[in-house]
Amino acid sequence: MSAATYPNYSPGLEGVIGGISTISEIISETSSLVYRGYDVHDLASKGCFEETAHLLIYGHLPNQAELDALKKTLANEREVPEQVYTAMKQMPKNAHPMDLTKAGFVAYAPFDPDYAKPATDDAANVAKAIRILAKASTIVGNGHRIRQGLEPLKPKAEHTIAQNFLYLMSGQEPDAKTAHVLDSSLTLYAEHGYNASTFACRVTVSTLSDLFSGVASGIGTLRGPLHGGANEEAMRMLQEIGAPDKAEAWIHDALTNKKKIMGFGHREYKKRDPRAIYMTKVAKELSAEKGQTNWSEIADILEHVMETEKNIYPNVDFPAAYAYYVLGIPIDLYTPIFVIARVSGWSTHMIEQLRNNRLIRPNCIYEGPTSATWVPISER
Ligand SMILES: CC(C)(COP(=O)(O)OP(=O)(O)OC[C@H]1O[C@@H](n2cnc3c(N)ncnc32)[C@H](O)[C@@H]1OP(=O)(O)O)[C@@H](O)C(=O)NCCC(=O)NCCS
Repeated sequence: MSAATYPNYSPGLEGVIGGISTISEIISETSSLVYRGYDVHDLASKGCFEETAHLLIYGHLPNQAELDALKKTLANEREVPEQVYTAMKQMPKNAHPMDLTKAGFVAYAPFDPDYAKPATDDAANVAKAIRILAKASTIVGNGHRIRQGLEPLKPKAEHTIAQNFLYLMSGQEPDAKTAHVLDSSLTLYAEHGYNASTFACRVTVSTLSDLFSGVASGIGTLRGPLHGGANEEAMRMLQEIGAPDKAEAWIHDALTNKKKIMGFGHREYKKRDPRAIYMTKVAKELSAEKGQTNWSEIADILEHVMETEKNIYPNVDFPAAYAYYVLGIPIDLYTPIFVIARVSGWSTHMIEQLRNNRLIRPNCIYEGPTSATWVPISER
């Protein structure tokens, strides 16, 4: 039977309203995204990621004193217990950094000072959200060291979240441009309504489970190539194409063969993804500045063909992919970077869910066999 048989059924829950939220709004018709009323372009171009995280978690943009206080708390909470690194070191070297990141959070959870607090303890949840935010860049950055057989580094108090990740990842002080580009991308990746991973987080805590369990669900959900994993796949696709003069033939061939083009399309945006508009500008400027325009030239050709032939536009993962590549970030860290940003949105949603909780438990339509008759095992 097809979906059309059931008027109330929407495959993939497309168009289904899953809840009421005050966190962000996606306006498809105007290609805009606002976090608590603020245009994401303003947040990415005028503010820093920490301001956006404050806006999401506390509900308002911080004044200078509040931002200073948040940065101080983040610096104090950035380190993770040695046992977390010990647990991460047990993973095989081929473990994807998303699994390493998930393992890091799972190992950290029982060490959290509010671990035993009930799921509905709002103050504890906000405190956990800040610690999750503080530790994410450390877990990802030092996770990258661990898988290379290197010892974790001690985070520096004076670093921002973007700088902390870059410093731990490379062992070197990041330059201002690299930190700025990464910081802008973190703001763009921070929050996006009821996307799959956020919804998974909300489902998890709706059972009165805890924020750390929600983060584990979120990481697992984000990993897939139809969601966060698209930024890694997009870069691998650009590498496969290799050069601008190969791009046109490659994309026509891919479309003829009904291939999904990673980094293109979006369930919510039928026109342009506002995050992609901003990130493309950043990625192109960066590519020109660094004299590495190969990827942006290929990207232009793919975008043109996708728009004219399919009316499908790039999403944020497409320009983020080649921006990160030009910054020298290993490809399999692109989705973990998404985690560093999105933990702010996930935690905010989980807090919102728990402030007015109802167990999330939809129905399904049963189409399996009926009236089966029990047959003893010896006769089957
Ligand atoms: C994001 C995504 C899953 C949204 O998908 P969705 O709302 O379920 O829409 P569908 O996958 O059903 O696509 C609808 C149509 O557009 C086409 N389409 C959508 N995205 C496409 C893409 N990236 N490449 C080629 N065709 C695409 C589909 O083939 C389908 O065409 P059809 O009706 O002729 O079969 C989808 O666009 C996709 O897979 N994109 C690539 C992965 C990606 O970049 N994900 C990150 C999202 S931020």
